[in-house]
Amino acid sequence: MSRPKISVIGAGNVGATAAMRLAESELGDVVLVDIVEDMPQGKALDLMEMGPVVKYDVNITGTNGYEETADSDIVIITSGLPRKPGMSRDDLLATNTKIVTQVTSEVAKKSPNAILILVTNPLDAMTYVAYKTSGFPRERVLGMAGVLDSARFTAFISMELDVSVDNIQAFVLGGHGDDMVPIARFTTVAGIPITELLPQDRIDALIQRTRDGGAEIVKLLKTGSAFYAPGASAVQMAESILKDKKKILPCCVYADGEYGIDGTFVGLPVKLGRNGIEEIIQVKLTKKEKEELHISASHVKELCERIHELGHL
Ligand code: APR
Repeated sequence: MSRPKISVIGAGNVGATAAMRLAESELGDVVLVDIVEDMPQGKALDLMEMGPVVKYDVNITGTNGYEETADSDIVIITSGLPRKPGMSRDDLLATNTKIVTQVTSEVAKKSPNAILILVTNPLDAMTYVAYKTSGFPRERVLGMAGVLDSARFTAFISMELDVSVDNIQAFVLGGHGDDMVPIARFTTVAGIPITELLPQDRIDALIQRTRDGGAEIVKLLKTGSAFYAPGASAVQMAESILKDKKKILPCCVYADGEYGIDGTFVGLPVKLGRNGIEEIIQVKLTKKEKEELHISASHVKELCERIHELGHL
């Protein structure tokens, strides 16, 4: 039986980190694609040489084309520009739309049955671009944002309470932007809602830090954006799909009436299995939470309209 194939487009910081995590977890053979000549080949060879140390047995191939990606089970798209200090994710819109359109059309031709996981920012809009360009059903086009935003929220709660990250279950909805919607009453520590453990002003501060989590790292790195946590988050989604784990993870998906949101991509809790999105989990939100989610979704809608105005789709 052949191993599953996962292609990672963009062999930069996020792509190379994802490739390493994929190899370490032996989820399948990995194909790394980039436009920079020889670079993906070099990183793939380096990862092959890491195998004997870490003891994984998978093939990692680097390439500048798409032949090797044929019949991928999953394609993780990370190609595109990252943010620099002072930039918002939306500032990347025009450039990354062109890149994601080009990459997705190549990928869709070679792997018509693949599940796509987008990482390129602005995330929700780029997931829409891949959805439109590929023509794939919504079950097979996902964006990675909520897993990362929840991980950041979890990390901050863990630091605040000095408790294991393993005890924490964070819940974040909405787009991957400043208006994401972390929901405190569904965020628990060993099953206890954080509203029972922390005063409201501390919860508000942790939520704000989560919203600014990406910018905090950009400010520190100065030349790019976060990549360890984003790479690992994309791989967690791939794992739930390939192992048919049916984990419920917050993912950027096409909402078709769920939560009263119609016709746009937004972060919602999703059951991820071998078929991609197997269910969108709907929970009752308070009026305020619902309003915040709708504001976030309408921001994504505006960005997608801007893409059409720019004539990119
Ligand atoms: N085809 C393939 N690869 C491309 C293309 C293309 N058309 N255009 C750019 N790339 C590659 C670049 O050559 C680079 O190696 O994408 C890679 C991006 O890597 P980095 O610059 O290191 O950026 P990274 O930190 O990995 O972020 C990638 O993910 O989290 C988001 O906001 C982030 O949009 C950014 C993306």
